[in-house]
Amino acid sequence: MKLAFKQRIATALAERESQGLTRRIVPLQRENGTIFVHEGQKYLNFSSNDYLGLATDPALVSAWQEGLNRYGCGSGASPLVTGFHQAHQTLEAMLCEWLGYERAILFNSGFSANQAVLFTLLQRGDLLLQDRLNHASLMEAGALSAATMKRFRHNDVDHLSLLVTSEQTNVVVTEGVFSMDGDCAPLAQISSCVEEQAVLMVDDAHGIGVRGEYGAGSCAAAGIHPDLLVVTFGKAFGLFGAAVLCDRETGDYLTQYARHHVYSTAIPPAQAYALSRAIEMIQTQQWRRDKLQQLRDIYHICLSCDDRASLSQTPIQPLIIGNTERTLQVAAALRERGIWVSAIRPPTVPEGTARLRVTLTAGHSEAQVRQLATTLQQVTEAISDD
Ligand SMILES: Cc1ncc(COP(=O)(O)O)c(C=O)c1O
Repeated sequence: MKLAFKQRIATALAERESQGLTRRIVPLQRENGTIFVHEGQKYLNFSSNDYLGLATDPALVSAWQEGLNRYGCGSGASPLVTGFHQAHQTLEAMLCEWLGYERAILFNSGFSANQAVLFTLLQRGDLLLQDRLNHASLMEAGALSAATMKRFRHNDVDHLSLLVTSEQTNVVVTEGVFSMDGDCAPLAQISSCVEEQAVLMVDDAHGIGVRGEYGAGSCAAAGIHPDLLVVTFGKAFGLFGAAVLCDRETGDYLTQYARHHVYSTAIPPAQAYALSRAIEMIQTQQWRRDKLQQLRDIYHICLSCDDRASLSQTPIQPLIIGNTERTLQVAAALRERGIWVSAIRPPTVPEGTARLRVTLTAGHSEAQVRQLATTLQQVTEAISDD
C-alpha cells in the first residue's frame, strides 16, 4: 500500500520534471514594494498582485500594528464560535456600503470563498456555466459540485446564451478581470444575457480596487450588480482573505452552511482592522489608479511593436511566448539582468500559451517600467534568434 503511494508520487514528480513543468518555491526578502533580494541578488519585481502598492505602505503597516495592539494576534476561533470581533463587523459593513450589498461574508482566502459558494449553493440538477478561463478554485469547485458544469468560450456571450436553459437553475460564473490574460469580461452583456434566467456570480479578485469609480471594481465599472460578488484581499488590498457580497438571505444561508466559513478560524481581528484602513485608502487615493494608468501607457508605447504582448487595460500584461522552454529561458535571462517576471506554464494556462505574466503596480516608477520594456525586448529578440 505504502509503496504504491510512494510510487504514485514519484511518477507524478518525474512526469512534471520531464515536461519542464516543475514549480519551485523561492524564499525572497523584500527590500521595498518593488525590489526584493534572493540569494544576495537584488531583483525588480514585476510579478506581484500588489497592484496599488499597499502591501508595504507605511500607513497600512501601522494600521495592522495598531490592530495588533488593540486586538492581539489571532482571532482564536471560527466566526460562529468566538472568532468574529467588532473589527470584522466594521469591515463587513464597510464592504456592504462601498459595494452596495446587504451582506458580506468573510473568508480566509479567495480560493475558499469560491469553493464555499459553489459547494454550498449548487444542487444536483443545477446547471453551472463557467467561462473556460475561470480560476482553478472555481473550476475545481464546479467539477466537484453536485451540479452539471459546462464551460462557455472565453468572453463569448453568444456561446453563453446558447447554453442557458429555462429548464434548470442556472448559475453563471465569470471573472471581472482574467488573472492570466488581464482582459476584462463583457459584464454588461453577460448580465443582460442572463437577466432573470440565471444567478450571476463575478469573481473580481483582480478588478476590485483597480477598476471603477473609487476602485469599486469591474462590476461598478460595467454598471452591473451581480447576485454574488467575490472580492479578494490578497491583491489590490495588499493583505489577504476574501469576502462574498450578496443579499441578506444568501448571506444567512452561507453563514449556516458554507463549511469554509463555519469550520475555519476567522481572520485575525487586527487584519480585519487593517483591511478597513485598506478600503479607505483604495477609495480615497485615486492617485494610485492614475499612476497605474500612466505606467500602463508607458509600457504600451514601449511594446507597441511586439505582437506577442497582449496590451491589456489592467495591471496584468501577459507576453505570450507559447513554447514552455523558451518562456523559461526568457524568464531566466530577465533574472540575470535583475528583473523578476514569472513564467506561467501549462497546466495553469492552456498548452502552447506559456507566457510571462508581467504585472505593474502603483509602486513602480516610470524608469523601472522603461527598464523592464527595454530588457524584455533585448532578451526576447536574443532568444528567438537562437
Ligand atoms: C480570479 C481569482 N480568484 C480567486 C483567487 C484566489 O484568491 P486567494 O489568493 O485569496 O486564495 C485568485 C488567486 O490568484 C484569482 O486569480
